Amino acid sequence: MHLRDGPLLKSIVGYSSRVFRRAIVMPNLEVPITTEALAVSYRQRILESVDIGTCFTPLMTAYLTDDLSPKVLENGFKNGIFFGAKLYPANATTNSARGVTDFFAIDSVFETMEEIGMPLLIHGEVTDTDVDVFDREAVFIERYLNPLLLRHPNLKVVLEHITTEQAVQFVDSYGSNLGATITPHHLHINRNAMFLGGLRSDFYCLPVAKREHHRLALRRAATSGKPCFFLGTDSAPHLRLHKESSCGCAGIFNAPYALESYIEVFEQEGALDRLEDFSSKFGADFYGLPLNTQKITLVRKSQLVPNFINLNEGATSAEKVVPFHAGDLLSWRVVRDENKE
Ligand code: DOR
Repeated sequence: MHLRDGPLLKSIVGYSSRVFRRAIVMPNLEVPITTEALAVSYRQRILESVDIGTCFTPLMTAYLTDDLSPKVLENGFKNGIFFGAKLYPANATTNSARGVTDFFAIDSVFETMEEIGMPLLIHGEVTDTDVDVFDREAVFIERYLNPLLLRHPNLKVVLEHITTEQAVQFVDSYGSNLGATITPHHLHINRNAMFLGGLRSDFYCLPVAKREHHRLALRRAATSGKPCFFLGTDSAPHLRLHKESSCGCAGIFNAPYALESYIEVFEQEGALDRLEDFSSKFGADFYGLPLNTQKITLVRKSQLVPNFINLNEGATSAEKVVPFHAGDLLSWRVVRDENKE
C-alpha cells in the first residue's frame, strides 16, 4: 500500500493499521526509497504516525533504479531493512520517473535477489507509447516477465495489482515462486466506471481497470482458494485537487473500507470461507512470514461510505480525499479489532 509522507502520513496510516497488522509499504515517494538510510527514516516516520498501542509492522521496500547497486540491496535485505524491492518501469505511474528504463540492463540485480531470496515486487506494465494502455500488462508479461523468469527460475516474484485474464492465467500456471496480488477496486469495477456519465477520476488507477471479462477472471482467481493469489490493496490516496486536474493522478484510496470491500466480493461469489486464506494466510505463506494470531471481527451490518474523507483538519473540499465506494452502502463492517497490544 501507499502510505505517502509528510502531514498526510499520520491520517493515512491509521486507516490501515486499524485492521492490518502489517503491510508492504511502497517506496514511490517524491524522493524514492533507494537507500537503507531512507528506508529506516521513512519506517520511523510511519511508526511515529501509528496510534499508541496499535501493532503495525511496516515492511519496507527498495525502489529499483537503473543504477541501484546489488550490494545496497543485499545489505539492506540482510540487515532486515528492505523486505523486498519494487520494480517500477520508468514513468509507468506516480513518482516512477526514476524507475527502470531497461529491465535487461539490471540483470545483476535480479541475479543477486534470486541468490539471497529477496522478493521482487513488480508493477507490470510496459510504457511504450505504441502499446495501447489497456494492453500494457499483457505485453509486459510476454516481453519482460516471462523472459525474466526463464533467466531466473528461482527468483521470488509478486506481480502486483493484476488486472487481466492473461495475468491470472500466467500466474496460475507458473510455479510457487510467482504470486499475484489483487486489489478490491479491480474486483469491483471495470473500465466503464471511469466514464460513467462523464470523466470519473476517482476510478482512475494504474494499471487501469480493464474489460468486464478481465474483472470476472480476477474475481474467480481471488476466490479460487489458490495460494498464488492474495490480498494487496494498492491503496493510493491523492487529494481531489490532484485527481481532478488536466493531468489527474492515478490511484484509488481503498484503505478505509478495504476488508469490507473484499468481503462483499467473496460473499457475492459464495466464497466467504475462502476470505481468510486470501486475506491473511496466502500472502504471509508466500513471503515466509508467521501468521498473525490476533483477530478482527466482521459483521453483516450495513454502513454508508462517506463521499469525502478529511485527512487534514480544516481541509477545503479540494484537499479532501474520495474513498473507494464513496456514497455506497456496504453490507459488512469491522466491529472489533484486536490489533492492539
Ligand atoms: O494507481 C496507482 N497509484 N498505481 C500505482 O502503481 C501507484 C499509485 C500511486 O502511488 O499513486
